[in-house]
This record gives sequence, C-alpha cells and structure tokens, in this order.
Amino acid sequence: MKILIINGPNLNMLGSRETDVYGNKSLSDLESMLIGKKHDVNLEFFQSNSEKEIIEKIHSQKTENYSYGIFNFGAFTHTSIAIRDAILSVKLPFYEVHISNVYAREEFRHKSFFNDIAIGSIVGFGFDGYEFALDKIMRGKDGS
Ligand code: DQA
Repeated sequence: MKILIINGPNLNMLGSRETDVYGNKSLSDLESMLIGKKHDVNLEFFQSNSEKEIIEKIHSQKTENYSYGIFNFGAFTHTSIAIRDAILSVKLPFYEVHISNVYAREEFRHKSFFNDIAIGSIVGFGFDGYEFALDKIMRGKDGS
C-alpha cells in the first residue's frame, strides 16, 4: 500500500514558523515520526508552496495509484477550488489534517474546500493528527 502525504505552503517552515501555534518541531521531524511508526506501508512525502505543483502531484495518481492521501494544504485549504477539482478528477480517498484548530482561529480559516470530500478531517491535534490518519488507514474501515 502506498500513501501520499502532502504538506502545502509554509509547512516547510515548521519549527520556526509561529511556534506558539505550530510547535517547535520541523517537517522532517514529522516525517521521521511517521516513518518511525513502522507500518508496513510505503509513505511518500511531498511538500510544496506552489498550487500548480500540488495539483500536478495529485494528477500523478493516474499512474501512481496511491491507496490513500493524508493532506494538509495549509492556506490553500481555505482558497483552492483548483486543488479540490484536482482531487475530484482522480480517485484518491484522503484524510484532511490541520496541526492547529482552524475553527478556533480567524474566521477565514473556518472554510475548508476539502472537508466535505475527505474521509474525515482531524484538526488541532498537532503532529498527532497525521498519525491518527495513518493509524486509521492501517486499521481499515471497521477500525479493527
Ligand atoms: C494549517 C492551518 C491553515 O489555516 C494555515 O494556513 C496553515 C496551517 C494547520 O495545519 O493548522 O498553513 O493548515
């Protein structure tokens, strides 16, 4: 099983960016943490600050056949109909993750273009949100 983990704009700045909101750990700490879970699964990590590159990565599903996505599109969450359409153009079930509780923040962060097409959304649990999504994928639909 192959899982695509996309982190969108500014998430390459984790560890130094607004540490009161996002914590002190870096994106590579996050990736190491998920790899360290030693699930029998192929994790592919992709980070980009470019909407175009994210869309093209999602289009690669046509040949890559990822089983699932775990996506944190950062600020594009609240703006990008184009990324939403990219997901709808390929078959790629996914979980939406946000490190911070976007619903406790500015109102413009309350809108997500992804929460109605995600399997589920996990917000406000820090890096653990990615781990919850991965565990859930590994345990399957019935949670066993
Ligand atoms: C974020 C929340 C977004 O509103 C913000 O633009 C981000 C990070 C999060 O993980 O909490 O870049 O997606």
